[in-house]
Amino acid sequence: MYLPSFRLDHKTAIVTGAGRGIGRALAIGLAEAGADVVLISRTKNDLENTADTIRQLGVKAYVMTVDVTSREEITACVEEIKESVMSIDILVNNAGINIRSAAADVTDEEWTKIMETNVKSAFMMSQEVGKIMKKQGTGGSILSVSSVAGHVALRTGVAYAASKAALIQMTKVLALEWGKDNIRVNSIGPWYFETPLTEQLLTNDEYLHDILAVTPLNRIGQLNELVGPAILLVSEAGSYVTGQTLFVDGGMTIQGF
Ligand SMILES: NC(=O)c1ccc[n+]([C@@H]2O[C@H](COP(=O)([O-])OP(=O)(O)OC[C@H]3O[C@@H](n4cnc5c(N)ncnc54)[C@H](OP(=O)(O)O)[C@@H]3O)[C@@H](O)[C@H]2O)c1
Repeated sequence: MYLPSFRLDHKTAIVTGAGRGIGRALAIGLAEAGADVVLISRTKNDLENTADTIRQLGVKAYVMTVDVTSREEITACVEEIKESVMSIDILVNNAGINIRSAAADVTDEEWTKIMETNVKSAFMMSQEVGKIMKKQGTGGSILSVSSVAGHVALRTGVAYAASKAALIQMTKVLALEWGKDNIRVNSIGPWYFETPLTEQLLTNDEYLHDILAVTPLNRIGQLNELVGPAILLVSEAGSYVTGQTLFVDGGMTIQGF
C-alpha cells in the first residue's frame, strides 16, 4: 500500500474562527474526513450553527466561546478541551482580521489588534496545544491560515501583510523545534475567497477585475477548494511535510512580470 490515508477518524481537531468563512468550511471539511471538532470564536450562535452541521455528519462538535487574543481564555479553554477529549491531534489557527488602513494612517491600536489577532493568538494556541501534543507522545499537526499577503506585496494593508509574513515564519520555526516530537507545523496561504471578510471588496467590480487580472485561473477561490489542501497537510497523507506554506491561490504567486 503506497497511498497514505487522508481520513481523520478518531482524531480531534481544534479550529479557531470556526463560526463563519474559511474556518467554518475547514471545520466541516475536517469533520467530513472523520474528525471530532472543537469550534472556537467569540460568537456562540455562529459556532452552534457550524456545530449543527457537523453533528449531522455523525461526529462530535464542541462549542467554545473564546477570544483568542486572551492568554487566560486560551489556557482555560485548552485545559477544558484536554479534560473532554481523548487526545488533541490537530490545531487549525484560522481566526484573523484585517483593517485596511494606508501605511501612513495605521494607528498603534490597529497595528496591535491585527498582530494580536493574526499572529500572537496563533502562537499562544500553538504553544498551549503543542505542550499537550508533546506530552501525549503521539505527535500532532498544526495548520495556520496565512495569506498570499504574507509572501508578496498587496494592497491589503501593511499591518495585515506583516502579520501574515510573521505567521509563515513562525510556522517554520515551530516545525524546526517540534519536528523531533512528530508535531508537524504548516500553513495554507489563500488568495481571494468569498467570505464576510472579503465580501465588500469582491462586490467592487473594478477591484474584482484587478484581482482576476493577476490570477491565472481567472476566478476567485471557492471555500471547498481550501479543504483538500488543508486535509492533505493535517492527515497522514502529509506525514513528511512540515514547515511549509501551501499557497491556494489560483496561481497568483507564480508570476513574474
Ligand atoms: N477570505 C479570504 O479571501 C482570505 C484570504 C487570505 C487569508 N485569509 C485568512 O483566513 C482566515 C479566515 O478569514 P475569513 O475570510 O474566513 O474571515 P471571517 O469571515 O471574517 O471569519 C473570521 C473568523 O475569525 C473569528 N475571530 C476573529 N477574531 C477573533 C478573536 N479575537 N477570537 C476568536 N475568534 C476570532 C471570527 O469570529 P468572531 O468575530 O465571532 O469571534 C470568525 O469566525 C483569516 O486568518 C484571514 O486572514 C482569508
